[in-house]
Amino acid sequence: MKHFKIAIVGATGLVGKTILQVLEEKKLPIESYTLFASSNSAGKKISFLGKEYIVQELTENSFDSGFDFALFATTNENAKKYAPIAASKGTVVIDNSSYFRLDTDVPLIVPEVNFEDCYNNKGIIANPNCSTIQAMLPLKALDDKYIIKRVVYSTYQAVSGAGKEALEDLSNIDNSKPLKKFPYPIYNNCLPHIDKFLENGYTKEEMKMINETRKILHHPNLRITATTVRVPVSNSHAESINIEFEETFEMEDLLDTLRKFPNIVLVDDIHNNLYPMPINATGHDEVFVGRIRRDESVVSGVNIWVVADNLRKGAASNAIQIMERLILEEK
Ligand SMILES: NC(=O)c1ccc[n+]([C@@H]2O[C@H](COP(=O)([O-])OP(=O)(O)OC[C@H]3O[C@@H](n4cnc5c(N)ncnc54)[C@H](OP(=O)(O)O)[C@@H]3O)[C@@H](O)[C@H]2O)c1
Repeated sequence: MKHFKIAIVGATGLVGKTILQVLEEKKLPIESYTLFASSNSAGKKISFLGKEYIVQELTENSFDSGFDFALFATTNENAKKYAPIAASKGTVVIDNSSYFRLDTDVPLIVPEVNFEDCYNNKGIIANPNCSTIQAMLPLKALDDKYIIKRVVYSTYQAVSGAGKEALEDLSNIDNSKPLKKFPYPIYNNCLPHIDKFLENGYTKEEMKMINETRKILHHPNLRITATTVRVPVSNSHAESINIEFEETFEMEDLLDTLRKFPNIVLVDDIHNNLYPMPINATGHDEVFVGRIRRDESVVSGVNIWVVADNLRKGAASNAIQIMERLILEEK
């Protein structure tokens, strides 16, 4: 049986640490792990799977020893520079940054939705944006059944989605320190501004959700709009998604369709005040869906509320699910 060699790039960040945590929970046939981060973290010790690992500085020679997979959890600039180097040495890179996501040569994968697109990879596979990943499960389930005509996303995104410095801003309650990540305090506030503003007035985050959804669902012209908002919640993103269909539906049938889709958990019992919330989604890999109700303003439409752990299903767990399936097919 083949045993795999894995590199984790950005092992000291929020996604990198979650990758280590998720790998500890799985029993994958992995022979060795090598942990990389910036020069600031080089030499730092990390306990992982009962051993002590020394973080290495990422350099152009980091991939010379030949890894089977490299899980990248670092900046766009680092992904741009180092992922092609790793791929050129025969390593399959699964990248969490947004740098390659829309490249036609790079599959953009949510395993429950479009795993088969993986087989076209040329050494780099992209993990979608955290807010896109969680939306894909219910949208795929409903698109297969009723054909989606239009989507309106409104997000309520956790602070951990912006990395470790962002969490320091959230704990800066009395504003006594300079902000590290956001233009305004995030504590006790909401920012309708995630990533940079673009020429068309949308943010990059909003356009990521729109373009990545079209790519993953293989619907290049799907009508979608989005408003993405950062809220003072430490972890797990929430989203209101309004969906219009070509076909009509019966509510019981729609609920059943969602319930049967892999890794969707319905939490939808308004009589007992049960609906998905970030505090319950954190620590889980499933996507929680609730507040499901007919949109009475259109012929065939529905509103749903979708919550998932952005560091796990939105990043680390999705990347590891991709790697796990590729490993199981290869070994
Ligand atoms: N947070 C989320 O929920 C989420 C979800 C989906 C995708 N993503 C994406 O995943 C990536 C990582 O996000 P994050 O939230 O984990 O960010 P983070 O907490 O800020 O961590 C960034 C990581 O990149 C490393 N790094 C920075 N500069 C480096 C360099 N020159 N060479 C090597 N390593 C370097 C950092 O190492 P040091 O500690 O040494 O600085 C750290 O390990 C980003 O592209 C982000 O957009 C994040």
